[in-house]
Amino acid sequence: NNPPWPAYRGYHEYSFAYATMGQRLPTILGKGIEDVVVTLNQEYDEERVVDLVQCIERMDALMGELQAQAKLRPIIDDGEADVALWNKLIAKYFHGKTFMNAPWLFAEAYKYRRLQECFSISKFWKSYDVFFRQKCDTFSRSNEAVFELSMRFAEPFKLKDGLSPDQKLEAERLMFKELTQICLWGNSTDLSLLINMTEDQIRSLQSTGGANLAATEKNILGNHMQKLWETALTLRSNTGGRVDFVLDNAGFELYCDCVYADFLLQSGLAKEIRFHGKRYPWFVSDVTKKDWTWLLNTMVYGQLFPKASDEEKESLRRLGLRWKQYEKEGKWIYEQHPFWCTGFTFWELHNEAPDLFLHLSRSDLVIFKGDLNHRKLTYDCAAPPSTDFEIAIGSMASAAGAPRICSMRTIKSDVVVGLGPEGDELAERLDKEEPGWKISGKYAVVLLSEGRPG
Ligand code: F6P
Ligand code: MG
Repeated sequence: NNPPWPAYRGYHEYSFAYATMGQRLPTILGKGIEDVVVTLNQEYDEERVVDLVQCIERMDALMGELQAQAKLRPIIDDGEADVALWNKLIAKYFHGKTFMNAPWLFAEAYKYRRLQECFSISKFWKSYDVFFRQKCDTFSRSNEAVFELSMRFAEPFKLKDGLSPDQKLEAERLMFKELTQICLWGNSTDLSLLINMTEDQIRSLQSTGGANLAATEKNILGNHMQKLWETALTLRSNTGGRVDFVLDNAGFELYCDCVYADFLLQSGLAKEIRFHGKRYPWFVSDVTKKDWTWLLNTMVYGQLFPKASDEEKESLRRLGLRWKQYEKEGKWIYEQHPFWCTGFTFWELHNEAPDLFLHLSRSDLVIFKGDLNHRKLTYDCAAPPSTDFEIAIGSMASAAGAPRICSMRTIKSDVVVGLGPEGDELAERLDKEEPGWKISGKYAVVLLSEGRPG
């Protein structure tokens, strides 16, 4: 039950796997160590200092293993809910493999699990997040786009008076398309690619204006947005559906996801939203419960944006208060299943996490955000770009009970599918004309799979 195409591996020099395993991961780990050193230098209690020094030693050892192409060892039983899943995966498929010759997707995920282990077996630092400072800092430097959105959306969504029913529907369709794009392009700012972003880089990645959106729609190479709108309308005619977000990055992307989710609720397209986050720090910028709580609290109480006007600050506060209210009322629900932090692809979800599969199968639409989720959906393998999305995601489309799925992803790694019958030629042309188009985040896909009733 595997796809017929080979999965990318670290030693594939033509793939982004090679640069990631060889250079990006050691750089990311090195920055993580620097962060812990900052914390260490601010700590005064001896027991805690000694405990933290041991965390750093474990990170150094992990760095050594990464650079020496060591064999992957089992995960220590640190009480995390995913240990059994991890060790089953290692024993069954990856015994004796190294960071470089194991499938890239698995090896990269394994690195983040091992990083977690550096802290989870400590006494005082179990929930330490080496990426937390970076995540908060980038959000605080995203002020322009943050306020552009809060000033527009703090007021509850309202259509102009005097529109005919057709005009109303068209206004809503345009709004839906715009917000879908805001949610989509929010994915371009993940921190694992953009270490030390400048303010200008952040600004250009986050410009959310209308004219810009029309131009960027051209860059959505596989675009099922119209079908997505029609789906959303059928949910509304059934008194609003349940929509799930399998989240990707914290900070600005999460903020955009919430703006979108807010619109889905207000417009009656959805009546319940479930957000799925990670249990611990993952692929640098992915959302944890702490990031979720931090965002809502900082919007309401924070002083992150000292230069903002009172009006801007107030708009952010009102938006944050409304979102907190959704949580209180149970309209927004945050969840964190252990499966999301494993090295399994989603082809294995229905076998390895049947409870989660069943849970998702009850949703009317599951939106998978970002590049890593897309790699997991598609088995991270060399499928031709013309491959239909439903074929590329295997059992997530074909197993009985497979939910309706939408992948919203800016393209940041090798696997590209769902580009339509001319897709192979299009990809070949881009390969020639714009080498690097698969990792720049300039292009995107919004792909829909209808799922299969249980
Ligand atoms: O290391 C590669 C990768 O997994 C790519 O998928 C992407 O470059 C990045 O890490 C994560 O991107 P995202 O946050 O969109 O999943
Ligand atoms: Mg991410």
